[in-house]
Amino acid sequence: MLKLKAFILIGCSAGMILQGCTKLVPRAPDSGEVIAEPIEGLNNAQMAAHLVGDERFAHVYSPEEGLGPVFIQTSCEGCHVGDGKGHFSSVVERFGMWENGVFNYLDSLGGPQLQGKAVLNYLAESIPDAGTVVSRRVPPIITGLGFLSAVHDTTLLNLAAKQTAQGNGVSGRVNYVMPQSAFILESHHVDSSGYYIGRFGKKATKATVKEQIVFALKEDMGITSDFDMFDPFNIEVGYNTGDDVPDPELAGNQVNDLVFYLRTLKAPTRRMEDDENVMAGEELFKQVGCAECHISTLKTGYSEIEALSEKEFHPYTDLLIHYMPLLGDGYPEGSASGDEWRTAPLWGLGLAADSQGGIAYYLHDGRATTINQVVNLHLGGEADNAASSYKALTDAEKDQVIAFLNSL
Ligand code: HEC
Ligand code: HEC
Repeated sequence: MLKLKAFILIGCSAGMILQGCTKLVPRAPDSGEVIAEPIEGLNNAQMAAHLVGDERFAHVYSPEEGLGPVFIQTSCEGCHVGDGKGHFSSVVERFGMWENGVFNYLDSLGGPQLQGKAVLNYLAESIPDAGTVVSRRVPPIITGLGFLSAVHDTTLLNLAAKQTAQGNGVSGRVNYVMPQSAFILESHHVDSSGYYIGRFGKKATKATVKEQIVFALKEDMGITSDFDMFDPFNIEVGYNTGDDVPDPELAGNQVNDLVFYLRTLKAPTRRMEDDENVMAGEELFKQVGCAECHISTLKTGYSEIEALSEKEFHPYTDLLIHYMPLLGDGYPEGSASGDEWRTAPLWGLGLAADSQGGIAYYLHDGRATTINQVVNLHLGGEADNAASSYKALTDAEKDQVIAFLNSL
């Protein structure tokens, strides 16, 4: 969130940034700013790198810099407003079709993702008739990702095994995916068959923050980089031609700046933690079984960023995919079926409305605007017990759960 950082930097020369000039400026975060700060414990060089990445995140690309030829938005920040949940109108659409039991992502017709805008002299895409399956996704909050990426794979495998062993209907599993080799460096490889554990994206399809970012650069903005030299497929000119700007449009170190920024963006700070209703709501949230998937506390493994290493944090997710039939969209990704979704992290939930235009839109496609609607859509699958128990609460108790969720 560049505005805040620009404020912090007032009066700092480039040299001073490295000397810790941020200490000179008092912080007075309001609720919108709470989610857009660096994690605590960064050294001065890391802090400077974070700020460089922040600028790259807010950068608005022009066609001369390689935007497009087809694209959805002109900046990361354009969808991830203030690093929070994105607006309903920033929804991204992926499409494809089932063909003899195999899913076809329709690459040759502009898939997997719709780019509904184009630079001058190019045709924007529309979903082809063959694209009978469409997955719609509202941009998620993107804070605290460094913590999520530093959780060791074995932690996730153990969680999945524990859930299944409990035999109460909750049985999350990891999404096995096959990323390109350039993206596995941050990953903790535990599977010998060449697959990696995905954890980012709403079906946990991307193994690392870097993989997610390179995909976003290409599929959301039409920006090529050292890690993916091809513009999104263009129905007019095919793969390799793209726009007239030489590839890569972004150097590897500029991509790495973005990765570092997102890995060092702080998790949202809780508010109203000591409020009686919030505390009662937290208890009820655990009692009815919401916390079986929305796990409050995870611990990171080793990270070369010391501030992320061996740290407890509170994301309210297990990073596992779960069978949620009422939310199914028929669109598979990795080993996740059309009916499976990654447990949405609930941190920052109470700040969602700030970045979504005044109203919070919940679930992967923003179809719900109240927690009661969200819970109704949890029925029928792995969350059925928890959702049914929630529905049996009194209205006052439900309000306490909601107060708790809004404190996150
Ligand atoms: C057109 C809107 C749009 C733009 C532009 C965009 N994103 Fe996203 N972003 C999304 C959506 C939608 C998702 C969820 C994707 C999914 O489910 O696979 C997402 C997911 C992510 C995630 C994964 C978060 C998580 O919890 O799993 C990261 C990281 C991310 N985006 C970073 C970026 C960066 C960096 C840029 C700029 C290079 C960017 N995004 C540009 C819409 C956008
Ligand atoms: C079986 C695992 C599971 C259980 C149990 C569970 N959830 Fe969820 N929850 C999910 C998944 C998966 C999603 C993502 C669904 C989607 O994006 O469409 C989700 C999404 C949500 C969201 C939307 C978050 C957002 O960013 O839009 C809220 C709120 C939520 N759950 C609250 C609850 C509450 C309250 C309970 C207890 C009544 C509960 N959940 C129980 C798996 C679970």
